[in-house]
Amino acid sequence: MDERERIEELRATLTRFVRAYFVEDQPEVSDAVYDSLMRELVELERRHPELHDPDSPSQRVGGAPRGDFRTVSHEPPLLSLMNAMDADDLRAFDRRVAQAAGDALAGVPGPYVVEPKIDGLTVVLRYENGRLRLGATRGDGLTGEDVTPNLAAIAAVPRELPPGAPGRLEVRGEVYLPVASFDALNRLREAEGRPLFQNPRNAAAGSLRQQDPEVTASRGLSLFCYEIRAGAEPRTQNEALQLLAVWGLPVNPLRWLCRTVDDVIAVTEEFAPGRERLPYAVDGLVVKLDDLGITRRLGATQKAPRAQIAFKFPADEAATTLLDIEVQVGRTGALTPTAVLAPVRLAGTTVQRASLHNEDLIRQKDIRIGDLVRVRKAGEIIPEVIGIVPGEGHEGRPPYAFPTVCPVCGAEAVRLEGEAVRRCSNPSCPAKLREWLLHLGSRGALDIDGLGPRTVDLLLETGLVHEPEDLFRLTPADLEGLPRLGEKSAAKLMAQLQAARTRPLDRLLVALGIPHVGERSAQALAERFQSLEGLAAASGAELAEVAGIGEATATEIERFMTGPVGQRLLRSLGELGFRPEAPARQASGALDGEIVVFTGRLSRPRSEAQAIARSCGAVVEGDITRRTTLVVVGEEAGQKLAKARSLGIRTMTEAEFGAVTGAG
Ligand code: IVH
Repeated sequence: MDERERIEELRATLTRFVRAYFVEDQPEVSDAVYDSLMRELVELERRHPELHDPDSPSQRVGGAPRGDFRTVSHEPPLLSLMNAMDADDLRAFDRRVAQAAGDALAGVPGPYVVEPKIDGLTVVLRYENGRLRLGATRGDGLTGEDVTPNLAAIAAVPRELPPGAPGRLEVRGEVYLPVASFDALNRLREAEGRPLFQNPRNAAAGSLRQQDPEVTASRGLSLFCYEIRAGAEPRTQNEALQLLAVWGLPVNPLRWLCRTVDDVIAVTEEFAPGRERLPYAVDGLVVKLDDLGITRRLGATQKAPRAQIAFKFPADEAATTLLDIEVQVGRTGALTPTAVLAPVRLAGTTVQRASLHNEDLIRQKDIRIGDLVRVRKAGEIIPEVIGIVPGEGHEGRPPYAFPTVCPVCGAEAVRLEGEAVRRCSNPSCPAKLREWLLHLGSRGALDIDGLGPRTVDLLLETGLVHEPEDLFRLTPADLEGLPRLGEKSAAKLMAQLQAARTRPLDRLLVALGIPHVGERSAQALAERFQSLEGLAAASGAELAEVAGIGEATATEIERFMTGPVGQRLLRSLGELGFRPEAPARQASGALDGEIVVFTGRLSRPRSEAQAIARSCGAVVEGDITRRTTLVVVGEEAGQKLAKARSLGIRTMTEAEFGAVTGAG
């Protein structure tokens, strides 16, 4: 799709969303998705001025009136705000203000007033001779709707002002639905089987635009005022807020006076985490030059004042185009799909790849290449595609067909019953080998420093390694003169490979890369079977008796040990000089066969108590399951203790544990 088509598509999609949002008060997508698409449209339109269209959703903010109310013209128009997405945007804004203001600010803009950006809807209130004469919505900024009776029904909206207020006063503010009222309203709607409001803003809009003011009154709406449009010309924003309060209008007490843009940035960072605790929804902060004289002089662009800007908190969801689906082959041969995306800003970073989880998710959500997809990134987790944004073009694109052959070696990729993943069936698939080598050298396995992706690729490309054992057949002569591998690195790698031969048995087990066998289960297996040969000889039933080894893992172990790769390894590891250290059974044996879980506060570090238990023959686990045989209970033990009791598992105090293990 070229950029012209993309612009058209975005305009059509956003027009639909705008209608759903502003006119029907029932948004189709989250604000974050809407914002990210709007940003993309604005950027594309900036690159293509020849495609300018006054009807583009980017040119018009807010919705056209629905026709239920008398319309009101706003004079001057109610502007909107520019958006800043991060600290850089704020600094650029600060520089623009300094430049535009010139001498008036002597190059140092500020102070700024920073206010919470209330997620509600803008209204205008007009008072004449102290009485509320008009209350209107913002509409598209030029024309709004007369909702005077409804606004008058809101408890926070004064119908009369105290003596001393200007004879004619027009103010701007934000009507919002407190979080508690929003939750209560949605609970009620759920009970009535009616569609829920997506967010407090839409609920506020829906509640305000009611034919019956009593309905509005019952919803618990509230108001914060932040601008004097007519009736007084305060010198500063701070003064404006004070005057509004003196005249009995509700003003948000929360605000920050910041001397410089650095102080503003500090506020954006400090405020974000705590905002969830406020009783109203906040979707950002508004940064305003305190000096209103200069603010007026700097004027506005078409849409927004130059000396004010909205800082939007980074959204954790966005929408972007799915350009391709890449399927990678992991160590166990699992085919994992990754989404290749048109770059999109998400939670403060630019995202171009995201997890698509597995074949089933793609089918269930009917995700097709070319679709507009919703991407989420919460906290530290990898970004993931969570679904599509229904829209133009989806039906015309072919459904995605997940590969049934390995994209690397072309062998059949099979999906075993009960498994979520499809795996390459070729035991010597080069992709598997590469991932296996990387895994084998990783910390929890044989910990071979220097066996990173570069070296692994080099060894594979040069044909020095065809199977994992080949690593341990390498000689200094093999490595000599290899491109991209210096003499020192080569020597170090040889030493590391030597050291790997005597790593503890459990690490070697991890290195084998058997599906589901991680560090914990490897430890348990090493303790129980003491050698690779012992493990290979174990029956399925014996394996399943080991703590932490479920049926699926037992099956994988058997499959590996009896398969060609396992058999080959078993034969050659000894020849290659492997002497894995078996875990010492220095156990007093006091807890032999016990599966122990610790809970509550202990007098010694938990890791120490666990080590004592292990040295006495126990297997230590983190969670209580039906297999747990003993729970050691510290102070203030809660749910786990209750669970142990309900399952009838034996418990022991820490003192008893000390006595049994001889650890005092
Ligand atoms: S000042 C010229 N202050 O945010 C525009 N706006 O994205 C003056 N908003 O349309 C707006 N809280 O509906 C301002 N403390 C606040 C605000 C606020 C919420 C809304 C307002 C505006 C939108 C801009």
